[in-house]
This record gives sequence, structure tokens and C-alpha cells, in this order.
Amino acid sequence: MELWNHIGLEGLIMNSRNNTKYIVFDGMDGSGKGTQIDLLKKKFGSSVVFTREPGGTPFAEEIRKLVRDNPLAGTSTPLNNFLLFWAAREELQQNFVVPMLSSGKHVFSDRGDSSTFAFQLYGEQREEFFGAFGFMRRMVFGHGGGRRGPDLYIIFDLPAEVARERALQDANRVKTHFDVRDLAYYERVRTGFRRFADNHPPVRVVDATRTPEEVHQSVMGILAEMGIAE
Ligand code: TYD
Repeated sequence: MELWNHIGLEGLIMNSRNNTKYIVFDGMDGSGKGTQIDLLKKKFGSSVVFTREPGGTPFAEEIRKLVRDNPLAGTSTPLNNFLLFWAAREELQQNFVVPMLSSGKHVFSDRGDSSTFAFQLYGEQREEFFGAFGFMRRMVFGHGGGRRGPDLYIIFDLPAEVARERALQDANRVKTHFDVRDLAYYERVRTGFRRFADNHPPVRVVDATRTPEEVHQSVMGILAEMGIAE
């Protein structure tokens, strides 16, 4: 609870003006998140719009190219990465999440600020970013104009060594500088996601060691509890 208070996460769940939900799907690289999102895309019709972080708008996709694909990305400082992920998120919030939710669509996002918490704060061991993390949440998810933080985070959890092995084996995956991390980094990221879950009530942690179909059934159950049906 102390951490929760410190990073100022309380009070961020904004009152929705309609019943639309903003849901983030997140987890370590290799957690099977992509497979799960593909299954959801097949299941849900036009009531749900899918997006991803970093990215989701033309400008945020440019930030994605910069932080993920540009050869210079590996030389960016942890603070610059932190700021750029938040810059992309601000762009997505203003130009995609807010308009979509207010037009009556549910928004399902592949990653969200839970990734910044897990990767930039825990993976990179930057405790000094905690205050800035809370501040950025308040700025991006609060302060009126229909801004809203996610209603729920669904986090796919599995042991770090399994996730890393899966990420490295995935032949379809374009390898980026994010993928070549050592096991200790993956373990810190897993801890980061768990700490995020501990300190953030609207989080459901899903056991991702099971088969894709079993995991999918769990996800569908959670979405049904949220009132989101196919
Ligand atoms: P991507 O190849 O899309 O990974 P995935 O398919 O697993 O989502 O690349 C996104 C990478 O960016 C991923 O390694 C996680 C990282 N990331 C952060 O480090 N911080 C963030 O805030 C976000 C949104 C992503």
C-alpha cells in the first residue's frame, strides 16, 4: 500500500460516462500475450477496438519505430525510454482511447503503463522513476477531457526462464534490442508486473503456463465478469 500511495495511483480510475471498458493485456515477452490477443480479435466484433503500445496512432507508431526498431534505440538512456513510452501513451490516450471510449467502443490494448512499470522501473532498476511514474499517470489518465486510466489490466504470468526461452524460440518474432536480455532482467520484469498487480486493484494475473486455449478460457471468463460478451 505504501508504494501505491507513493506513486499516487489512487483515485485514477475515472468515472466512465458510458459502459465502455478500457482493458490492457500485458506480460513478459514470451508470455503468449500476442496469441491471446489474436484469439480475442477473432472473437469480438465491432464493439471492441484493438490497439497497442507503444503505437496505435500514426504519431505514436513513429515513436514505436524510434524506441523499438531504430538501430539507435539501444543507446537511448533509461530515462529517455521512460519518457518516450509515456509520450506515445499520451498520444494514444488523446487521439485514440478517449474518442473510442466516448463513441461507445471498448478498447483492448496490447500493453500499457504496466509495461513501463515492469520494464523501465523494475527491469532497469530505476527506483528514482517511481515518483515520475505516478506523476505521468495523473497527467495522462487524469485531468479531465474524458481521460481515463484502464478499467482492468490482464497480466499473463509465467516463470522468467520459460518466457525468455519462448521469446528466443519464436521464429515469427522480429528480434529487437528488447529481446536479448538476460534471465535476471526477465526475473526483474516479472517481479515488476507482480508489484504492479499488488499495488493496483484492477489487475487480474492469469497463469500463462497453460495451453493457449485454457488461458483463453480464463480471459473470456474475466471479460464476461466485466460485462463484455462476444
Ligand atoms: P514488441 O515487439 O511489440 O513486443 P510484444 O510483442 O511482446 O509486445 O515490442 C514492444 C517492446 O517494448 C517489448 O519488449 C516491451 C517494451 N515496452 C517497454 O519496455 N515499456 C513500455 O512501456 C511498453 C509499452 C513496451
